[in-house]
Amino acid sequence: MKKLLEINHCRKSFGGLEVLKDLNISVEESQVLSIIGPSGSGKSTLLRCATLLETMDGGDLIYDGLYAARDQGGKAVYASPQELHRVRNMFGLVFQNFNLFPHYSVLKNIMEAPMLVQKRGRKEVEEEARSLLEQMGLADRADAYPYQLSGGQQQRVSIARALAMKPKILFFDEPTSALDPELTWEILRVIRMLAEEKMTMVIVTHEMAFAREVSDWVVFMNDGIIVEQGDPREVIDHPTQERTIQFLRKMSGD
Ligand SMILES: Nc1ncnc2c1ncn2[C@@H]1O[C@H](COP(=O)(O)OP(=O)(O)OP(=O)(O)O)[C@@H](O)[C@H]1O
Ligand SMILES: [Mg+2]
Repeated sequence: MKKLLEINHCRKSFGGLEVLKDLNISVEESQVLSIIGPSGSGKSTLLRCATLLETMDGGDLIYDGLYAARDQGGKAVYASPQELHRVRNMFGLVFQNFNLFPHYSVLKNIMEAPMLVQKRGRKEVEEEARSLLEQMGLADRADAYPYQLSGGQQQRVSIARALAMKPKILFFDEPTSALDPELTWEILRVIRMLAEEKMTMVIVTHEMAFAREVSDWVVFMNDGIIVEQGDPREVIDHPTQERTIQFLRKMSGD
């Protein structure tokens, strides 16, 4: 299987606080990787480093063979702006809080980046945007504004917006944690559908049952390191490390 993402020896500190400590992750094409772990363990920081929203202090970041950053003597050296532009076109990111443009319609939210960043033609982009909305069960909401939608609908629009860029890999940072429990399932259903379509995804989530069901690989992080990783049925049902056992016990509420 082709490796789409590789992060080697990733290190990141904020001031004196070391948040990521020599982390390695690799994601193959069509794989769904879930990242679980307690608050403050560095999950979002890892995702932000992977998506170039933060710079790593040290380590390699490689997308489909293209180096976004290369470790040189323990320091991450980033590629040129042109190469980073190519890298940015390879992934999409869905945030916890949707981050839609409030003054744009749903359709315009989805069409903006493919037209402006990827310079694709309006007609093709609009056709695709409408078909993505249809796929998300929102065909009739193209002209609505974000404030007119429920949180679950807004999150589906932001997934459509990410997909409109045709990413090779899609990142989610706790995509359901800003949603009421009854809206959570809408998003989980969409992610499950994408997994069935073999979309490559990296998902930070607190939904253990979902991570167990949808992912091919689970990474448990604590304190900036990977404590345990493997098949979700192994890691979630039969954790071997004391820290993982404690965390899962807490998540299941006993
Ligand atoms: N920009 C920043 N400046 C300073 N410290 C930061 C910054 N971003 C994150 N941190 C710190 O890094 C640590 C890891 O934070 P991070 O957001 O990655 O954790 P997380 O695993 O995503 O937690 P949660 O489950 O609560 O979202 C925390 O101690 C946090 O306070
Ligand atoms: Mg986080």
